[in-house]
Amino acid sequence: MARDEAGKCCVIGTGYVGLVTGACLADLGHSAICVDKDKEKIEQLKKVKIPIFEVGLEEIVRKNLKKGTLEFSTDIEDAVRRSEFIFITVPTPSDSSGNADLTQVDDVARTIARAINEYKVVINKSTVPVGSTKRVERIIQEQLSEPHEFDVVSNPEFLREGTAVSDFMKPSRIVIGADSQKAIMKMTRLYDKIDAPLLITDPVSAEMIKYASNAFLATKVSFINAIANVCEAVGADVREVALGMGYDERIGFEFLRPGPGFGGSCFPKDCRALLSMAEAHGYNFYLLEGVLKVNEEQQRKIVEKVERLLGGTVQGKKIGILGLAFKANTDDVRESPAIFIVRMLLEKGARLSAYDPKAVANARKELEGVDFAESPYEAVKDAEALALLTEWDEFKWLDYARINKQMKGNVIVDARNCLDPAVIRKIGFVYEGVGR
Ligand SMILES: NC(=O)c1ccc[n+]([C@@H]2O[C@H](COP(=O)([O-])OP(=O)(O)OC[C@H]3O[C@@H](n4cnc5c(N)ncnc54)[C@H](O)[C@@H]3O)[C@@H](O)[C@H]2O)c1
Repeated sequence: MARDEAGKCCVIGTGYVGLVTGACLADLGHSAICVDKDKEKIEQLKKVKIPIFEVGLEEIVRKNLKKGTLEFSTDIEDAVRRSEFIFITVPTPSDSSGNADLTQVDDVARTIARAINEYKVVINKSTVPVGSTKRVERIIQEQLSEPHEFDVVSNPEFLREGTAVSDFMKPSRIVIGADSQKAIMKMTRLYDKIDAPLLITDPVSAEMIKYASNAFLATKVSFINAIANVCEAVGADVREVALGMGYDERIGFEFLRPGPGFGGSCFPKDCRALLSMAEAHGYNFYLLEGVLKVNEEQQRKIVEKVERLLGGTVQGKKIGILGLAFKANTDDVRESPAIFIVRMLLEKGARLSAYDPKAVANARKELEGVDFAESPYEAVKDAEALALLTEWDEFKWLDYARINKQMKGNVIVDARNCLDPAVIRKIGFVYEGVGR
């Protein structure tokens, strides 16, 4: 691929990462075929029905489908044959011991091997334990039907759900882990139009960078949650504390918002995977163990708050839930603290009515015995308590006087510190946030 020449890419696994990667590569002027084994998803995508909520994604999918630079397909082998750059973006969930389950990556590697017909760069964007680049290389080598040259590269993805398109286009850094100069040159040209620091390293370090980054961010979240708990005990306001800490450039303001703990499809599973990877190599990562423990405890603490404010039990009481997504601006509920909290409340016999602007369809698949409401006002009607579990902007601007009239009780547990306690208390609520 010469400078300014479009790269022919295929992206295997059209989920959050794969769809964004394919659409953005097409938008950068390359050609991209997004493939998935899920036929229904691909059929919908061909009609520009986007299965996930992601700002700006629909526009670039529509534009590039029309231009013909983006395609959707279920024929993985055909897509591999027609492409030079083969991205792997399939899930790597936790197995029962917390390790990353590589079954889907291995499957894809075998399929790629069957289809290789000329030189390919196979790029692993799935989050995988150290050694996986070599593992994919070995699988492909063993399964090749006839000898062909290929390289495997680690290119971890750092996009955040909710801002995935702009994160892909303006990333904080691009990490390429490769042993082959040819592959490095090709990858560098592929990302030519993206203005970001380029870190070229070995595959093992690249794989480690992704885990270390997520584990560090998770540590910040658990750290501020632990500080919030101490603040509650001693009567300090964690928001003031976080502000005072954040001004120190060595600390920064990011990821110092206390809440119900971190969730999503990455932080919890990546922390578990790093923990078991370290253990397997003889290192006890006590710090990370603590990070996960604080996180679980934080979810329980929210439930305990609701219970305490309702006189010691939630049995038979109606609670209105605002927010189910693991964070604002996404419809993703994977390992969402809100889902864990809802399950705990259900187990304790609460009656729940829940609302989320985008995540209800996904939450329905996870939860039984919850009424899903069409609006926040419907969710809290006749409720004895309201639990605000996701920091959607719209929850900050609700008419809380109206909510107060509609509710049977007057308890608000604001697990995201979205509301102004003074204003809310003045309306007549009993309010508790986190660490204030
Ligand atoms: N979601 C994120 O914010 C994020 C960010 C950075 C990295 N990652 C990592 O990227 C990887 C993918 O995550 P995701 O959230 O995009 O997953 P996802 O579940 O949203 O999508 C994965 C897609 O892969 C498809 N798939 C699975 N096996 C397949 C196969 N054999 N052939 C073709 N398609 C197949 C599934 O049908 C699904 O559509 C994971 O390793 C994850 O840890 C995710």
